Amino acid sequence: MDRNLALEFVRITEAAALASAQFMGRGNEKDADQAAVDAMRRAFDSVNIDGTVVIGEGERDEAPMLFIGEKVGRNGAEAPEIDIALDPLEGTTICAKGGVGAISVIAVAERGHFLHAPDTYMDKIACGPRAAGKIDLDFTPEENIKIVAMALNKSVENLTVSILDRPRHEELITRVRKMGARIRLIGDGDVSAGIAPCWEESGIDLLLGIGGAPEGVITAAALKCLGGDFQGRLKFRNEQEKSRAKQMGLKNPEQKLLRDDLAKGSVMFCATGVTDGPLLEGVRTLPGHRTQTHSIVMRSASGTVRRIEAEHNFVTKPDHLGTSVNTSRSTGGRV
Ligand code: FBP
Repeated sequence: MDRNLALEFVRITEAAALASAQFMGRGNEKDADQAAVDAMRRAFDSVNIDGTVVIGEGERDEAPMLFIGEKVGRNGAEAPEIDIALDPLEGTTICAKGGVGAISVIAVAERGHFLHAPDTYMDKIACGPRAAGKIDLDFTPEENIKIVAMALNKSVENLTVSILDRPRHEELITRVRKMGARIRLIGDGDVSAGIAPCWEESGIDLLLGIGGAPEGVITAAALKCLGGDFQGRLKFRNEQEKSRAKQMGLKNPEQKLLRDDLAKGSVMFCATGVTDGPLLEGVRTLPGHRTQTHSIVMRSASGTVRRIEAEHNFVTKPDHLGTSVNTSRSTGGRV
């Protein structure tokens, strides 16, 4: 995959982050998500790719834009054929409430290299490079915690596990607490939380629990670039979802999926922070109609991780990036 595309993809997540950040803390999830979707869709038009959304906003009948199967990109001469897993606003509730860790994200792979995951749930485990290859979704949480603690040369008491704060995790939370490990309960956003163990400063050592399956594919792509590990197993809410997974090509929908089953071959991952989080700082407004974004872009082929801090000038910034000048709000400070 052409490495020069990396910067093009950053522009796309920047556009979505800038647009959704205008709705930060305004209590309106739908508008925040819509702004991100519109901006991301427009930004794709300027990139010369023959892209197909394989993980997106949902099926065609429920998502008017960036739906699964939608073609994106300019598709001009020599446009590479690529598959795209995206989430214009990962953490819609986080953004609406002004919470921690909302991001805009896309992952790209060569055609056919992402798992075509239905919009269902996935049981997940994610860790950083030092515990990679050692964890196993088939082990108990206690076993995995001990393995990660040993790999990080930490006591279990000093290990922090990130878990989505959901009633379905009641037993998991009890067991992790009983072991003496620490828990960071998150309201939403298990993509950021799943990638976080790759950075010791994040304070998160392991992600456990059930979250969205599309988010699982995106997390696997990121962890592939960073040398972390991820395993997942689809968790269906009904038989319909299971047969949908079979239709999408999964012979055994309940099998354990390894990181490279979810994201094969060479992948690229790119994210821009919407609100401050363990992975990225959020969008920040500066005086003079300028806004700052923080993005990360990485490729599995080279293992290069780039952090990009950009300052956008809304007076001169072209509209196609999906942002509009709202001078009344550009008063400085963090949004
Ligand atoms: P959205 O951005 O689509 O709202 O997803 C947020 C999220 O918390 C994901 O990070 C997570 O994988 C999923 O929702 C969990 O689903 P649920 O909220 O149904 O438990």
